[in-house]
Amino acid sequence: MKVGKDMIYEWAKSILFRMDAEKAHHLVVNSLSKMKTVPGALPLLRRLDEVPRADDLSMQVCGLSFPHPIGLSAGLDKNGVAAEAWEAMGFGFIEVGTVTPKAQSGNDLPRLFRLPEDYALINRMGFNNVGAEAMKANLEHTQLRVPLWINIGKNKVTPNERAHEDYVSNLQRLYAYGEAFVVNVSSPNTPGLRDLQTGNDMARLLAAVREAREAIVREHAGFGRKPLFVKIAPDLTDEQLADTVSAIQSSSIDGIVATNTTLSRAGLQHGNQREAGGLSGKPLQQRSTQVIRELYGATGGGLPIIGSGGIFTADDAYDKIRAGASLVQIYTGFVYQGPGLVKQIAQGMRVRMKADGFQRISQAVGQ
Ligand SMILES: Cc1cc2nc3c(=O)[nH]c(=O)nc-3n(C[C@H](O)[C@H](O)[C@H](O)COP(=O)(O)O)c2cc1C
Repeated sequence: MKVGKDMIYEWAKSILFRMDAEKAHHLVVNSLSKMKTVPGALPLLRRLDEVPRADDLSMQVCGLSFPHPIGLSAGLDKNGVAAEAWEAMGFGFIEVGTVTPKAQSGNDLPRLFRLPEDYALINRMGFNNVGAEAMKANLEHTQLRVPLWINIGKNKVTPNERAHEDYVSNLQRLYAYGEAFVVNVSSPNTPGLRDLQTGNDMARLLAAVREAREAIVREHAGFGRKPLFVKIAPDLTDEQLADTVSAIQSSSIDGIVATNTTLSRAGLQHGNQREAGGLSGKPLQQRSTQVIRELYGATGGGLPIIGSGGIFTADDAYDKIRAGASLVQIYTGFVYQGPGLVKQIAQGMRVRMKADGFQRISQAVGQ
């Protein structure tokens, strides 16, 4: 059965990879979004790809329960249209977005490029999304058994001095629909966005978001204090990273997602390396793990870290956990390897963990 399924994906991939990368992306996400309306489709996906629930892989992070630590990264489902299908494909949590307060079309096409020899992608999408109100409608009837996270950003036209207003507006509109929120200040494709990662801009933004959450909690007794994460870039210098960590620590933010895509082009082979944008996939793997290790060291393990960048195998995911990540996320690996990847990683992670003498994956974090 496993061979059959893998063969089907290889066949589908051979067709998808002949299409323009963004067209293939839309085709896949649109098809997945329709699965909830096709009788039997989600149960079938679940039967093929669901990761059997077991205590040894389960995780508790910021008061949320995860059946296992492998989640979907932001950007694959920017509008939150296919959450049920991601869950059926075995993801232990799902991050949708980046969403901005107003809909925006993003950068000019083409803006997504494959680098197959490098197992990488370059994108300069520029937060194309339907906006917070439309995402709300998409998520309204979504019911999941795993946590749904919402990644929030600012509109391109909003100047950095007023960026906090966009993040707050997203939080207010979408608070009821996510179990956690990720403040994205690390996309390289919105001019100036990464400047929000350091200094006064960072402090002001985090204070505004935190205060907005407190106000929501005061006004709506039923909601509770939902975790807030900040997603950072892999391209920060050591000094900038230290600055970012201290801003996060003094702001009651609950955790860090590390990392977003990189501007580096080191070691690439494919001609698409000349395209502008953020690079993801294998070439990002070591740098993102290094950032996780530095963050874990700098925070003494006191702040949950979510690892993202170049995960293609169980070893890649496990390395990030041992470097200090409590949870990990996948994007580019899913594009290259297909839906069986989550289950494969979960199984491999269990083997690695047992070989290292851990009974539970939570014991391996930062060890
Ligand atoms: C096409 C594309 C679009 C992305 N869009 C977003 C986004 O909207 N928000 C975000 O925080 N990260 C976004 N990312 C970054 C991913 O969430 C992830 O952090 C990064 O790609 C590294 O993981 P990977 O190597 O597994 O892809 C995007 C990545 C890709 C490839």
